[in-house]
Amino acid sequence: MKFATRLESLQDKALLNAMELTETEDMISFSAGFPSPDTYPVDAIKDSFLRVLEREGKEALSYCSTSGYGRLREMIAERMRDKFGLHYEKEEIIITSGSQQALDMSGMLFINKGDIVLFETPSYLGAVNALRAYEAELASVPTDQDGIVIGALKEAIEKYGDRVKLIYVIPDFQNPTGRSWSTQRRKEFIEFISNYDIPVLEDAAYSELSFEDQLEKPLSYYDKKGQVVYIGTFSKTFCPGLRVAWLCARKDIMENYLVLKNAADLSSSAIAQRQMAYYLENYDLDQHIREIIVGYKKRRDVMMEVIDREFPKEAHYVAPKGGLFIWLELPENKNSVELLRRAMAEKVAFIPGGSFYPSGVKNNEMRINFSNMDEEDIIKGMTILGRLTKEYLAE
Ligand SMILES: Cc1ncc(COP(=O)(O)O)c(C=O)c1O
Repeated sequence: MKFATRLESLQDKALLNAMELTETEDMISFSAGFPSPDTYPVDAIKDSFLRVLEREGKEALSYCSTSGYGRLREMIAERMRDKFGLHYEKEEIIITSGSQQALDMSGMLFINKGDIVLFETPSYLGAVNALRAYEAELASVPTDQDGIVIGALKEAIEKYGDRVKLIYVIPDFQNPTGRSWSTQRRKEFIEFISNYDIPVLEDAAYSELSFEDQLEKPLSYYDKKGQVVYIGTFSKTFCPGLRVAWLCARKDIMENYLVLKNAADLSSSAIAQRQMAYYLENYDLDQHIREIIVGYKKRRDVMMEVIDREFPKEAHYVAPKGGLFIWLELPENKNSVELLRRAMAEKVAFIPGGSFYPSGVKNNEMRINFSNMDEEDIIKGMTILGRLTKEYLAE
């Protein structure tokens, strides 16, 4: 059968299949990118669904408006104002089926074949694939510990000129590196990019998973032009299965997103949205987040202790201050795919860093998730991985 040419540009299937394998039953897997299923508030969700069906069953089982359930959008606006100082009106927010759909729609809205998307690199593989599907050319812009490197961004914009149609960034506890942009870099970025008419996609998937009291202000907070399109999700703070997320944009941009959302799936699930709204009104999501963070921080600490004890000194990491991942760097001449091959033979998995490069792949890094395995498995799996790393680096 003949498939569309866009498929050819997507990540190679061999790698995707290898990732699927890492999720088999008896594997100690540090490869997942989601919260611990043990944290999902199943009883509260069950109660919320029942109440919604009792109170507003017919509406909950109908189509919803394309922009999403109004009460939920209002509550999202309130939360973003209280937590991050963002002042989006309800009309500037639409509900999407996961933030993955918001990424897909952004490709649909801004990208023609051959356009350039600049990526903070390394970056989220799902965004790489979503934007590649629109036959964009992806260009990597390096990051350091403070965020995207402004000098390199300037060079990329000068090099590609008007072909640059979108910039994709994850400023908080980034997937895959766990890094967060400093306040200073956020301000510098907005000051610099406001000289251009390029939309910025701010993916805030992990922004609330901070191990410190203070939350950073989003890029969108500093943006006075409405150049930033902001994407939030309940997947990492609540549960991914409901597929409830949101996208915020200036009203004239939003009109176009609405047309695309309608064409994509008419509306997100009415019952899932109403369930989420009921939960937000009657339960305490912030308390839930505080509780899960305590657990994640503990798991991160245990993982770092094992790395410090069991791994060779040449394997570097910087302690993440939130999120779900530790990013480990091996010496440049080493390949983490080879290490994964050996680890999988001993039933331990992680994701090799090369998967997170939109272009200019580096192979000596690895993403290790700490939210999904309990402390016992973290100690066991990371001890094995430490030994294998020592052996591999000694060769
Ligand atoms: C950075 C980032 N953005 C977006 C997503 C997609 O999340 P969802 O579609 O569940 O909202 C993920 C999932 O891993 C992610 O890591």
